[in-house]
Amino acid sequence: MSKEVVLSVQGLEKSFGDQHVLRGVDIDIRRGESIVIIGPSGCGKSVLLRHMIGLHQPDKGAVYVDGVDVSHMRRRDLYEVRKKFGFLFQASALFDSMTVGENVSIGLKEHFHLSPEELRRTAEVQLDLVNLRSAIDKKPSELSGGMRKRAALARAIAMDPEIILYDEPTTGLDPITADVINDLIRSLQKRFHATSITVTHDMTSAYKIADRIAMLHEGRIVFDGAVEDVKGTENPYVQQFICGKAEGPIQTV
Ligand SMILES: Nc1ncnc2c1ncn2[C@@H]1O[C@H](COP(=O)(O)OP(=O)(O)O)[C@@H](O)[C@H]1O
Ligand SMILES: [Mg+2]
Repeated sequence: MSKEVVLSVQGLEKSFGDQHVLRGVDIDIRRGESIVIIGPSGCGKSVLLRHMIGLHQPDKGAVYVDGVDVSHMRRRDLYEVRKKFGFLFQASALFDSMTVGENVSIGLKEHFHLSPEELRRTAEVQLDLVNLRSAIDKKPSELSGGMRKRAALARAIAMDPEIILYDEPTTGLDPITADVINDLIRSLQKRFHATSITVTHDMTSAYKIADRIAMLHEGRIVFDGAVEDVKGTENPYVQQFICGKAEGPIQTV
């Protein structure tokens, strides 16, 4: 694996009102790796992901993508940078009025001059990757939760992104469907050599997807290590989190 840093978060701080959510996040992500960022609900995982594509402006610090600061960028330049990214939103965020095929090809339609036939063919190829070709003419409302997730996944990868961001890809799915999604995320990363950044509180998913696991707690990265090191770590935050214990340094409400 190459050691080249593709995305670097440096000293990132963000507050909403008097709530200091990110308090100095530092993390480097290398090209081609699959990193999973774990942490309790509400700790700021989604906020961190949104900074990576310039949807939030930090109060302090910055995010660099291929060495370029994306956190203080003009909107037009940001538009170009976002082409490098695929984003799987927590709630799938499919457009209900469009078919699955139209949802998958929406980015291509926006960025390239393709005929309806070309768009459809591209959607078919993407849907094949997630075993959902038969649903191309269906509406999202006709699909199960797992199928919607797969459709959203097909859309996230349709523009051939260098970096794919997954926000809680398995939350709300049954364990078997979740496993299908985990397998897909892993196989897409291997097949296309994309960099995967996943945030989740699902440890089964984290172990399956990750090369490396980092933990976000109280606005900072409190652990960063290889998957093999997570289970044996004496880090009290990670121990409490992976064992799901109420007692420990992490306070819940
Ligand atoms: N746009 C926003 N405006 C105000 N508060 C926000 C916003 N986005 C997130 N927050 C707050 O920041 C905290 C972290 O949220 P989030 O990143 O969604 O947590 P999670 O780790 O569960 O993804 C929460 O307390 C949330 O209410
Ligand atoms: Mg979240």
